[in-house]
Amino acid sequence: MMKIAVLVSGGGTNLQAIIDAIDAGKITDARICLVLSNNKNAYALERAKAAGIPALAISPKDYESRDLFNEAMLEAVLGSGAELVVLAGFLCVIPPRMVEAYPNRIINIHPSLIPSFCGTGYYGLKVHEAALERGVRVSGATVHFVDAGTDTGPIILQKAVEVLSSDTPGKLQLRIMEQAEWKILPEAIQLIVHGRVTVEGRRVIIAEE
Ligand code: GAR
Repeated sequence: MMKIAVLVSGGGTNLQAIIDAIDAGKITDARICLVLSNNKNAYALERAKAAGIPALAISPKDYESRDLFNEAMLEAVLGSGAELVVLAGFLCVIPPRMVEAYPNRIINIHPSLIPSFCGTGYYGLKVHEAALERGVRVSGATVHFVDAGTDTGPIILQKAVEVLSSDTPGKLQLRIMEQAEWKILPEAIQLIVHGRVTVEGRRVIIAEE
């Protein structure tokens, strides 16, 4: 049974997709051992509590320095016994010590087709605003391993979603969540839990079933 820590900052719809996939048997041999939020008001914490999952909020504001906050975050994750860390709308930068503690064991969901609309400053609605401003006809979502950079790690899964002329950032965000994020994040977790994902350089190899 692989233990998973899910790190969140907001609404937690991706967390919910993971909880639902475990309940539905789409993710097997895994359980969520911790939901950690940097935001005490994140609705994701309510979702965790409703599912009976240990939930913890630690805010950078409660610590004298970013380093101390980062230490507390790493301690909480290590203390939960997590073997895989899933960033599900987590908007804090992952400190190098955490990346070193979990090499190719931290994954992130990003709401665009990386390498488009990613990196510093591209998060949440801003990603969709940028995609609409650029006029792309296709966007989507990416699940990738987290390395020392921002959105630079090896890509595990991507799913494309059509951009419509009638889209607003909010409409596009929701469609990308429904058609891509809530599908490929649980799928990637199931692949990793079952040992089907290996990294060669910057490429991810997925073993056939
Ligand atoms: C999701 O769209 C996720 O892809 C995005 O934040 C949203 C969180 O929603 N993440 C990023 O932008 C990371 N750079 P949720 O809290 O409902 O899962």
